[in-house]
Amino acid sequence: MKALVHEKIEGIQGLSLKDIKTNNLGKNDVRIKIKTIGLNHRDLATIESHKNISEPLITGSDGAGIISEIGSEVSLFKVGDEVIINPSIGWTTKSEAPPEKFQILGNPLQGTFSEEFVSNEQFIALKPKYLTWEEAGVLSLSALTAYRALFTKGEVSSLQTILIPGIGGGVATYMLQFAKAVGAKVYVTSRSKEKLEEALNLGADKVIDSHKDWETELDGEKVDIVIESVGAATFNQSLKQLKKGGIMVLFGSSTGDKVEFNLREFFYGQYTLKGTTMGSKDEYEEMLRFIETHSIKPIIDSVYDIENYEMAFNRLNNAEQMGKIVLRIK
Ligand SMILES: NC(=O)c1ccc[n+]([C@@H]2O[C@H](COP(=O)([O-])OP(=O)(O)OC[C@H]3O[C@@H](n4cnc5c(N)ncnc54)[C@H](OP(=O)(O)O)[C@@H]3O)[C@@H](O)[C@H]2O)c1
Repeated sequence: MKALVHEKIEGIQGLSLKDIKTNNLGKNDVRIKIKTIGLNHRDLATIESHKNISEPLITGSDGAGIISEIGSEVSLFKVGDEVIINPSIGWTTKSEAPPEKFQILGNPLQGTFSEEFVSNEQFIALKPKYLTWEEAGVLSLSALTAYRALFTKGEVSSLQTILIPGIGGGVATYMLQFAKAVGAKVYVTSRSKEKLEEALNLGADKVIDSHKDWETELDGEKVDIVIESVGAATFNQSLKQLKKGGIMVLFGSSTGDKVEFNLREFFYGQYTLKGTTMGSKDEYEEMLRFIETHSIKPIIDSVYDIENYEMAFNRLNNAEQMGKIVLRIK
């Protein structure tokens, strides 16, 4: 089968479409003929860090397709079922942090960007019927992360105001949709005028140019929760917009892992900083019920055939996207 493999060279240049052997099927496994896959910022981080490692890595965490074969003890699915893959492996029950055995598809585990993918039946779900293949293929990783960040960690409700920096991001667009679905007030930032306009169309209550001073733009109004994923470039501006006693939930650091911030202002402000990553199977199922209840569809930025993976990765690398980028396998 064909797979998008990363090896030897750091970054996009180390990617190539290769013919590789298909995996054997275990008794609790299903074989999925993949139709669509979704890009995540994580895929970029993976191909930057996966160097000097001799073993080629199939990239990718997201995917949707049709079951073509089942193992002898599979009881939840049958051949022909349309499914989506949950990349959060080994984390079943909702908990404060994942268990030690938790791993993510696409690094270190072999990923989904291939014509076929073999998964344990525990880590797939039926594709929501109202979603197209493109929408289903980009759902799992970002929507799960968004769901846990907002609801499990942030405990967002209709009475709160949320700030989401970097609204062009895949996870950020889900957070805007989810927070609006529960009636929260949502403020967003972006470096792009077009993305801010799109955010207004999606229901954002206020939009801020990321390059400006956010405090001035908000007229001094403070928010209950900030969900940060941009990292060093926005961390301090984000913290500054919190109400005293407010919560910052953090799950990404696209622009750098290290920040300096004022400890005295932090403890006088009585802020809470919460880290999060992905989510459990419980939360994955909650998220699927949530999007169906609210008829939420992923925001698709663009669709490429897998042969054009370089264009897709470059678009993500240049942060040109608003929402999710799809790769299609014919
Ligand atoms: N821990 C986890 O489980 C988990 C899961 C998913 C994602 N993540 C992390 O969360 C982050 C977002 O992921 P994603 O897939 O949604 O990413 P993405 O689609 O690549 O979006 C990142 C967004 O960050 C904003 N941004 C980038 N550079 C910026 C800068 N210099 N100043 C201001 N804003 C900037 C951009 O927004 P604008 O273009 O609107 O300015 C961009 O669209 C990544 O770091 C990713 O690795 C972590």
